[in-house]
Amino acid sequence: MPLRKIDEQDLELMLSWRNHPVVRASMFSQGIIPLDQHKAWFRRESEKADSAWFLFFDMNQKPTGVVYFTDMNRIANHAFWGFYAAPEAPPGTGTKMGIEALDYIFNVEGYHKLNAEVLESNTRSHAFHRKLGFRIEGIFHDHYFGSDGYESVTRFALLASEWSRFREELVRR
Ligand SMILES: CC(C)(COP(=O)(O)OP(=O)(O)OC[C@H]1O[C@@H](n2cnc3c(N)ncnc32)[C@H](O)[C@@H]1OP(=O)(O)O)[C@@H](O)C(=O)NCCC(=O)NCCS
Repeated sequence: MPLRKIDEQDLELMLSWRNHPVVRASMFSQGIIPLDQHKAWFRRESEKADSAWFLFFDMNQKPTGVVYFTDMNRIANHAFWGFYAAPEAPPGTGTKMGIEALDYIFNVEGYHKLNAEVLESNTRSHAFHRKLGFRIEGIFHDHYFGSDGYESVTRFALLASEWSRFREELVRR
């Protein structure tokens, strides 16, 4: 499978992508993260039962992205996701990683619904979510406060039933 659970040995590579200006600008925590803090955070994160972090590998077995699920709720069967492609990854990487991740969460793990929260300024991610079939469920106005002041946050969602229909269309295109 092109997704593999992240472990200790992946942390430096993961952090080099996470600290890239383009990736940082898309996140809710935008400062540069030092390696020791990243390692301590990952240790805490890997002990949680309700989150899962994956490295995505391309056709040549090269790691080209990170995709993760958080707030995984096994009662309502919903979760949130997030992701970033390696800054040097070729176009198309995000779509391939997205398809693998959505197949995993819906078809392997059996979740019912996947949510995402996207900053207003992240037009790429807005277009990306729409491309994968996500719908807007709401807008939280002036919800995030960053270096440029307040920004709205859009909540996207995709249901398992919508994904099975949308996937066919996406792969056909
Ligand atoms: C979002 C991200 C994973 C997309 O990866 P990617 O490899 O560029 O994605 P793809 O090339 O497969 O493009 C997928 C879609 O994203 C959108 N997209 C990609 N680049 C774009 C750009 N420069 N401008 C607008 N939309 C863009 C388009 O909808 C595109 O579909 P299309 O090519 O059919 O028009 C990548 O840009 C990234 O890592 N961004 C920083 C992290 C991030 O924003 N994470 C999400 C936080 S909510």
